[in-house]
Amino acid sequence: MSRFETLDTLPALNNKPAGCRVLLRGDLNVPMQNGVVTEATRIDRLAPTILELADRGCKVVVISHFDRPKGKFIPEMSVAPLLAPLRKALGGREVVFVENCIGETAKEAVNGLPNGGIALLENLRFHPGEEGNDCDFIEALASIGDVFVHDAFSTAHRAHASTEGIAHVLPSAAGRLMQAELSALDEALGNPERPMLAVVGGAKVSTKLDVLSNLVSKVDRLVIGGAMANTFLYALGTDIGASLCEKDMADTARAVMADADAAGCEVILPSDVVIAERFEAGTPSETVQIAAVRQDAMILDIGEKSALALAESLKECKTVLWNGPLGAFEIRPFDNGTNIVAKAAAKLTVEGRLRSVAGGGDTVAALSAAKALNDFSYVSTAGGAFLEWLEGKVLPGVAALEVKQ
Ligand code: 3PG
Ligand code: MG
Repeated sequence: MSRFETLDTLPALNNKPAGCRVLLRGDLNVPMQNGVVTEATRIDRLAPTILELADRGCKVVVISHFDRPKGKFIPEMSVAPLLAPLRKALGGREVVFVENCIGETAKEAVNGLPNGGIALLENLRFHPGEEGNDCDFIEALASIGDVFVHDAFSTAHRAHASTEGIAHVLPSAAGRLMQAELSALDEALGNPERPMLAVVGGAKVSTKLDVLSNLVSKVDRLVIGGAMANTFLYALGTDIGASLCEKDMADTARAVMADADAAGCEVILPSDVVIAERFEAGTPSETVQIAAVRQDAMILDIGEKSALALAESLKECKTVLWNGPLGAFEIRPFDNGTNIVAKAAAKLTVEGRLRSVAGGGDTVAALSAAKALNDFSYVSTAGGAFLEWLEGKVLPGVAALEVKQ
C-alpha cells in the first residue's frame, strides 16, 4: 500500500496542534428527505476524526459537498440541515455553521473559533471552482486552513478542489476514516488471504464490465449475481425466458469468462433460480432448474440450492469482497438468495474464519436488509469510489495524498 501521512505523523498536528486550522474534507452527502437525514452512517463515521482533532486543540473546519448544485447556490442543497445530526454524532458538541466556504465570512469564522472549536462550512459545490479544481478556488480554500485532512474516501474518485487540488497546496494527511477504508480495501484486494471470493451483483454488465475485468485477474472465485447473471447465462446458450438481459453484451460476457479461465478464476453462476411473471409484491413465484425457465417468466433471484452452495463455497475461503445484490432483493421473496449468502458470510466472519469487505451502491441496503451488515469485517461508506477502486483505477483523491518517495 502507498504511504500517507496520518494524524499520527503529520508534524503540524503533533508538534504544536493547539490552534492549528485543519480543513477536514468529509463526505456529508447523506440521504435526506424534506430536510431530515434518513441515514447518518457517513456522519457517524466522520465523527471520530473531528473529535480527535478537536481534543488536540485544533480548530476543526469541516468541508463537504452535498448533492449536485453544479456551481450555483441552491437553498435546498445547503448543508445547514446537517448541523444537528453532526452535533449529535459529536456527543452534543458545539458546531458553528458558516454560510460560505471561502472569503472573508469563512476566514473570520475560522479564525474566531476557540482552540478545539468546530465549524461546518457551506456546500463546496455552490462554487464552480470546486468541481473545476480551479486554482483560485483552491487558493481561497487553502487560505483558511493550515493543514488539510482528507477523510472522504467516498469522494476520492473526484479530482475536485477539496478532494485533490488542495492536497498539493497544504500539508496533507489521511483522516481516520480514510485510513480505515484504505487499509480494509488493501487487505481485501491488494493483499488478500486466499482463497478469495468476490460477489458482484447488479442489473447491468455494461456498468460493471471494468469491475469484472479487473476482478477475474485478482480473485479465485467470482460469483455473478443479479440481472447481470442473466446476460452471462444467455451468453452460454441458456434460455432465460423474459428475464432482464443485455443481449448485445453476450460477446463481452464470453470474453470475461475466457479471461477468467485463463487467469484460473472460477466464475460461478446459479444452477437454480427463482422465477415469476412479474416483479411485483405478491406475484406467485417458483424455483426451477436453470434449464427450465419458462418463456413468459423472469429470473428474479438465485435458487436456494445455488445460495446454499455459495454458503458452502465461502467456508473454503479466507476473504470475500461483496458488491451488489444477488437477486431483486427489494421485493420478497427475491431477497432470499442474498440473505442466505450474506448471513453465511456474516457468521463465518464472526467465527473469525473469513474477512468480509463490502461496499458500493445497493450493497449496504441489501446487506442491511439481510441483517448481515454489522457482522461484516468492513463496510465501505463509498458508492462510486468503491466501484472505481474495484475497477483497479487510481483514485485522484488518494493519489494526491501519497507521500512522494
Ligand atoms: C457519493 O455520494 O457517492 C459521493 O458523495 C460523491 O458524490 P458525487 O457522485 O455527486 O460526486
Ligand atoms: Mg454518487
